[in-house]
Amino acid sequence: MKFKFVLLSFFILMNTISFSQSTTRDRKMSQLITENYALANSQYLYMMKQVPSDRMPQSFDEKTNKLLTREITWWCTGFYPGTLLFIYEQTKDENIKSEALRTLKVIEPNQTYTENHDLGFMMYNSFGNAYRLFKDEKYKQIIFRSAESLSTRYRPNMKSIQSWNKNQYFNCPVIIDNLMNLEMMNWVSQNGGDAKYQQIAITHTNTSMKEFYRPDYSSFHVVDFDEKTGKVLKKTTHQGAANTSAWSRGQAWGLYGFITMYRGTKNMVYLTHAKNIAKFYLNHPNLPADKIPYWDFDAGQQPLAKRDASAAAITASALMELAQYAKGAEKENYINSAVTMMESLSNDTYRAKPGENGGFILKHSVGALPLNSEVDVPLIYADYYFLEALKRYKDWYLNK
Ligand code: GLY
Repeated sequence: MKFKFVLLSFFILMNTISFSQSTTRDRKMSQLITENYALANSQYLYMMKQVPSDRMPQSFDEKTNKLLTREITWWCTGFYPGTLLFIYEQTKDENIKSEALRTLKVIEPNQTYTENHDLGFMMYNSFGNAYRLFKDEKYKQIIFRSAESLSTRYRPNMKSIQSWNKNQYFNCPVIIDNLMNLEMMNWVSQNGGDAKYQQIAITHTNTSMKEFYRPDYSSFHVVDFDEKTGKVLKKTTHQGAANTSAWSRGQAWGLYGFITMYRGTKNMVYLTHAKNIAKFYLNHPNLPADKIPYWDFDAGQQPLAKRDASAAAITASALMELAQYAKGAEKENYINSAVTMMESLSNDTYRAKPGENGGFILKHSVGALPLNSEVDVPLIYADYYFLEALKRYKDWYLNK
């Protein structure tokens, strides 16, 4: 009897502690979500005045005080309309909505683009969000057409989608980032499209799990294949510190990618793999206390190495979803880690003040350090995944 009473009291105490921890967290996050979306709204209203009619924002050059923009086939052009749609969803600002709709039209021709593997980034983060919000059948057809374009890059002998075209460095390269384009393939097959798209996504994922991952669940950046025989020619990097290093954004893409593949298939192997990647990332001795990683986990020169806010934003958003598929202490660990990332990104080191940073929200991302490209700058996709992570907390955890 006495034992039962002690056990019951302990149970009530633990629940009370956990309840008060999550209400404190909710209060903090509610404030962060509101302030970040208000800032995002004003920053993007400012940015949109500098965007040329036929190009999309990339970054900001502090020296010349100029917004940097790119042509529509650049891999990131879906993130601007996608970010605007996240903002509109929260703030209902009609100027944000009309800029989102204008830019969707600008990138629409990408639906038939077949020169890279980035169709998911370009067309699902943009039109996928637009369809989710407005249910316009025309957007669905554009996503279907984009999946078909991406499927033309599937190479059966390699059991993979080819990422980049043959170039001076690679024969038939696949990069870890490619996993991010598969969410669109699953979605199309599950929403009335041909089943072949999901089959391609599954086959690609299985090959990536086998060829990219090391025993510690870190990943290579590039695997180069012989297209005819399907043989792996080399495992290497293009944007990381070394062939054997763990390029931070690559780890984030892989984590996010395996989670979406689990969502799309319910295959537990993908979920276990995602959890192992999360373990590698979150327990890495080089992950700083604020959980914003160096641009490569093996960058060297820590603590002076550059941080990559984009990898943190992608990881925060991925962990928000991973927590949906976990219980108890494991779930809390994913949520609390992602909350730390969102809090860190919201402090003055990483987050711009109103009117600064060319209208981008986040500073300090790294595109490709070894190529001396986009080093320690704002990047459009860091903002996109940061806003997605905040939205996911609001939709899935706030007051739940
Ligand atoms: N997908 C290209 C990059 O992450 O830099």
